[in-house]
Amino acid sequence: MNKKLAAFSLSSLLFLGGCQFGDDNKSGQKQHGQTENKKPKKAEDSLTLPASSFNTIKKEDGREVIQNPENLLVLVNKNVLLPAGYAPKDLRRPNVNFSFGDSNEEKALMRDAAATALENMFQAAEADGIELYAVSGYRSYDRQVALLNAEIEQVGKQQAEQAVAVPGTSEHQTGLSMDISSKSANLLLEQTFKEKPEGKWLADHAHLYGFIMRYPKGKEGITGYEYEPWHYRYVGKKTAKIIHDKGYTLEEFFKVVKKI
Ligand code: DAL
Ligand code: ZN
Repeated sequence: MNKKLAAFSLSSLLFLGGCQFGDDNKSGQKQHGQTENKKPKKAEDSLTLPASSFNTIKKEDGREVIQNPENLLVLVNKNVLLPAGYAPKDLRRPNVNFSFGDSNEEKALMRDAAATALENMFQAAEADGIELYAVSGYRSYDRQVALLNAEIEQVGKQQAEQAVAVPGTSEHQTGLSMDISSKSANLLLEQTFKEKPEGKWLADHAHLYGFIMRYPKGKEGITGYEYEPWHYRYVGKKTAKIIHDKGYTLEEFFKVVKKI
């Protein structure tokens, strides 16, 4: 297990940048990032976001469950879960190359806005002589259960949970993420992708199309996951530019950092 991760416990909380979970409202829901004096919400200093861009949270059995999972800026991690039954309503298959060809698979799907952005990004890459392959997008809660169980059988629970999200905590359930690879990386999701021209192109250009590398190197203690140079998350161009330029994670962008 990663030493950095081992040093932290779920119960140890550290908030950076003066972030609060914010005010309780009458329904018992809380919004991440809301300031105590009810000034306009700010995620990052140069970008004020509408309230609907922040997670609305309800505690269920001691767990923080997102009540507005359709929010395009939804923040999902090991501490903040999607509702088990949540499936986006606007999933579609983007018109890009897939590592599994034309086969009709759930993992080909993305939400409409993310699918359009992915198409634009893949086209721009192709114009630069870069051939990208989409490997894995939307994942239902039930499929995440199966994937985690398979990984646990291979490597044990602790190690499996560093690599595969516990059901409800995977960004793939949002339909806003895509794992991407290349023929040069044998269409695999491995860390060597960062050294390939395609991995470098994505690291440098994805933000221009509204995507961020969601699990960057050196931020494992914030995201809770190993470096994944292949996992890209749609957040829209304005947010992606800030996150890219400042080297943030989505947790840092929202000023909601909990040690995981
Ligand atoms: N590999 C990412 C963290 C997931 O399973 O969602
Ligand atoms: Zn992924």
